Amino acid sequence: EKGGFEHFMLKEIYEQPKVIEDSFRGRMSATDGWIKLGGVSEFSTKIDKAERFIITACGTSYHSGLLAEYLIEELARVPVEVEYASEFRYRNPIINETDVVIAISQSGETADTLAAIEMAKERQALIYGICNVIGSSIARVSHAGSYTHAGPEIGVASTKAFSTQVSILTLLALQIAQSKGTISTSKLRQILYELEHIPEKIEETLQLDGQIRELAAIYKDATNFLYLGRGVNFPVALEGALKLKEISYIHAEGYPAAEMKHGPIALIDEEMPVVFLATNQSAYEKIVSNIQEVKARKGKIIAIVNKGDTQIRNLADHVIEVPETEEVLSPLVTVVPLQLLAYHIAILRGCNVDQPRNLAKSVTVE
Ligand code: F6R
Repeated sequence: EKGGFEHFMLKEIYEQPKVIEDSFRGRMSATDGWIKLGGVSEFSTKIDKAERFIITACGTSYHSGLLAEYLIEELARVPVEVEYASEFRYRNPIINETDVVIAISQSGETADTLAAIEMAKERQALIYGICNVIGSSIARVSHAGSYTHAGPEIGVASTKAFSTQVSILTLLALQIAQSKGTISTSKLRQILYELEHIPEKIEETLQLDGQIRELAAIYKDATNFLYLGRGVNFPVALEGALKLKEISYIHAEGYPAAEMKHGPIALIDEEMPVVFLATNQSAYEKIVSNIQEVKARKGKIIAIVNKGDTQIRNLADHVIEVPETEEVLSPLVTVVPLQLLAYHIAILRGCNVDQPRNLAKSVTVE
C-alpha cells in the first residue's frame, strides 16, 4: 500500500508529478490556449462580476490560499482577502452577494472551514469549494467547485494535496483572467505551457533527495529554524516551517524575508539555520541583500535557488538548485525540497512522520 516507500508521506511527496498532471488534465490546453474548470464555467457570470474573492481555509490549505491571493490579484486583477476560517466565522465579517468565497480543504470536513462557508452562504455569497475528498461536506455545501484529484492523502502532514490545490488555484486565476481580458493570449499560453512542464521539473527536484538527506543530517539537532521568502514564495516559507514543526517537533517560523529585520533578526546567531526561498526573478537582488543580513549575524544559510545561480552560491552555506520556471508557478517546485527536508529531519530524529503526536488528519471539531 505504500508502493515500496517507507512512509505514506514520502510516497505522497513522490506522487506529486503525477497528481499535478491529474489535476490539470482535461482542464486546459497550452497549445490551444484554453482553460475550463467546470465549476467556474457554470457560474461564470457571477464569478466574472465578482468584486472580491474571500479565501478561507486552515493550516496548509490556508497557505495555498495565501498563494492564490498573489495569483488572482496578479493575473485577474480582482481584490482578494485570505482568512483563517476560525477567525472569519466569528468576526461578523462584511460579506455580500458580489463576493465569491473560496473554501480550500483537503478533507472537505474541517469544522471551521465548513462553518465559515455556511455563514457566508447565508449572506448570499457564491461559495466555491476546492476539496480533495469527493462528496465531502464542504464539497456538498459549496455552490460550485473543483476537486483537486490528488488521490487519498494518508500522511497527516499535507503534501500532494497542497500542490494540487495550487495547481487548481492557478487554473482558476487564469480562467478568470482570460474571461476578464486581464491577460494576453501569449502570456496565458506561456504560463499554461510552463504548468504542463511542472511535473517533470518536480521529478528533477525529487532527484535532490540524497543531497537533502545529507543536509538533514547536519541540522537535525537544531532547536529552531527560520524560513524566509518573498512574493509567491512567502507562503511557501510558511508551509516549509509548518511541515518541519508538525513532523519533527523543531520550532520553526516562516516570515516574509523583508519582515525579518522588524524582529526575528534578533534570533539569529551561529546556531540558527535559515532557509531562503531565493528563486524569484522579480526580487532577486532584494533576497540577496536579505541573505547578506543573515550572513552578517552568522546564521547558517540554506538557499533554494534556480539552477545555475552563482551569486547566492558564494554567500550561502548550502544551496539546493531547482529547475527554473515561470515565477508564479515556482512554489510548485520550491515547496518540494522543504517537504523532503522536514521528512528527513523527522526520520533522523526518530519521529513518526505519518502520525505525528497530537495531530489528526481531519479536524472535525473546532
Ligand atoms: C498540515 C495539515 C493541516 C491541514 C489543516 C486543514 O500538514 O495537514 O494543517 O492542512 O488541518 O485541513 P483540510 O485541508 O483538510 O481542511
